[in-house]
Amino acid sequence: MLTTKEAIEKRRSIRKFKPDPIPEEHILAILDSARLAPSGSNSQPWRFKIVREQETRSALAQASHKQSFIAEAPIVLVCCVDIKGFLNGTVSGAQDLGRIGAVEGRIVKIIVDRTERYTPMDIEEITPRIAFNLAIAIEHIVLRALDFGLGTCWIRLFDEKAIKNMFGWGDHIHVVTLLPIGYPAESPAPRQRSSIEEILID
Ligand SMILES: Cc1cc2nc3c(=O)[nH]c(=O)nc-3n(C[C@H](O)[C@H](O)[C@H](O)COP(=O)(O)O)c2cc1C
Repeated sequence: MLTTKEAIEKRRSIRKFKPDPIPEEHILAILDSARLAPSGSNSQPWRFKIVREQETRSALAQASHKQSFIAEAPIVLVCCVDIKGFLNGTVSGAQDLGRIGAVEGRIVKIIVDRTERYTPMDIEEITPRIAFNLAIAIEHIVLRALDFGLGTCWIRLFDEKAIKNMFGWGDHIHVVTLLPIGYPAESPAPRQRSSIEEILID
């Protein structure tokens, strides 16, 4: 098992995969790490589709500007935000936080009132913000996958409409990221990173 530091330092985007299947219990352990991620008001708006079929993986690669390596991974996780789940989860999550005294009653009221007032226009505007929650869960998956010797690559370059049509998903589902997962068939060198000085603002 890697320490958090080791996982963070060892992680690379993997774009070449072996075809070997992934044991089901490892897939479940990885998904469990997503389930445990923090989210605003504990809303837990993440939903995941596990794609194993070769044909569907190829269609996902096709819908991602033909990034063909996506189809090579034995599974591709389609990582989505569920807007209905977000709205319901925000209200019940905020109320729970109020009940246990973690958040003040007046803050719970602000969250619940705001959530119940959202119009479809507001929802469209806040969807990218809701996706922040998913990003945390996805990075949990990315790091936990390393414990099982698995590699991943965040994929954001895709045609969301094409993917939603493939699965027949409605307006409340937004595809945030594709995550091919498999045993690496490459060991890339670390990519360049900015120094700490460069990322600090005076
Ligand atoms: C939000 C996000 C979107 C990305 N989209 C793609 C993508 O569509 N295709 C791809 O090959 N890599 C994609 N990447 C991987 C980045 O290119 C990679 O993280 C970066 O070059 C740093 O390399 P490293 O991950 O190996 O450290 C994405 C990464 C992130 C975090």
